[in-house]
Amino acid sequence: MPSPLFQPLTDQQFHDFATLITSHLGIQLPPSKKIMLSARISRRACELGFTDVSQYHAWFFSHPSITKQELPNLFNYVTTNKTFFLREPSHFDFLVQNFLPSWINNHPNSTLHLWSAGCSTGEEPYSLAMVLAASQANHNFNFSILATDISTRTLQKAKLATYDQNQISQLPPLWRRKFLIPLTTTNGTTYKIHPQIQNKVRLASLNLLSPNYGLPHKFHVIFLRNVLIYFNQDTQHLILLKILNYLHLDGLLFIGLSESIKGLPLHLTEIAPSIYKKTQNH
Ligand SMILES: C[S@@+](CC[C@H](N)C(=O)[O-])C[C@H]1O[C@@H](n2cnc3c(N)ncnc32)[C@H](O)[C@@H]1O
Repeated sequence: MPSPLFQPLTDQQFHDFATLITSHLGIQLPPSKKIMLSARISRRACELGFTDVSQYHAWFFSHPSITKQELPNLFNYVTTNKTFFLREPSHFDFLVQNFLPSWINNHPNSTLHLWSAGCSTGEEPYSLAMVLAASQANHNFNFSILATDISTRTLQKAKLATYDQNQISQLPPLWRRKFLIPLTTTNGTTYKIHPQIQNKVRLASLNLLSPNYGLPHKFHVIFLRNVLIYFNQDTQHLILLKILNYLHLDGLLFIGLSESIKGLPLHLTEIAPSIYKKTQNH
């Protein structure tokens, strides 16, 4: 919802912010996004006490040190962070039913390493942790999940690992009892992810556009879902090449069901809708 101070950016102001955001994050902002960006930036301007977005724009670009310091806050407002538990359930089913049994056979006594890239407020990595923790009843294996995002605000929420009734409604009742701790607050009950699940997820800030990710190891499974959609094809290709360096051979890449990477020259084979196997090193 637009803030009470909502006022559209001028074309020049829009161009200034859009250019900066595309160069830092890769996110494409065509002119059709002007009202959306104006509304989001208005919220930030309002939070800082400015009377309109023009004041915020003038302040933001007044000195390189101000721009640098304010950038992470701007990113918090301009990224789209929609997510929910067990989103696109066919992916979790495939992971547990098709991938996991053979992976365990081929990797006895190993740790399954997963990466949720663009993890937003944590529902995706915690869903993975719950699905895998539930599978440990039938299979003997260990796992660990890295969850990264550019937005510091979403990472803080993921770290808090506390969700409301509405947010947890996607989870099966058994899992709610097993993996969540109800907390009574003045606003009602909230649900905290059980430490057994939370401890499986390591959260970190990472810009997928940065030249070097500096991650300590490769992964067997990478979830990169509903992130590529914000980039143009060249940026998608660039990011995928970097990400795939971190995927083991025969490892799986999951993208969002509404996303497409068809036509990009990558050594991947689609084995189920929006699930790809790495078939060769690049
Ligand atoms: C729509 S959410 C997807 C969340 C989750 N993967 C899912 O499918 O439910 C997209 C996330 O990508 C993050 N993102 C956008 N650009 C990014 C970048 N350049 N580097 C890292 N994360 C980015 C956003 O902050 C946002 O949290």
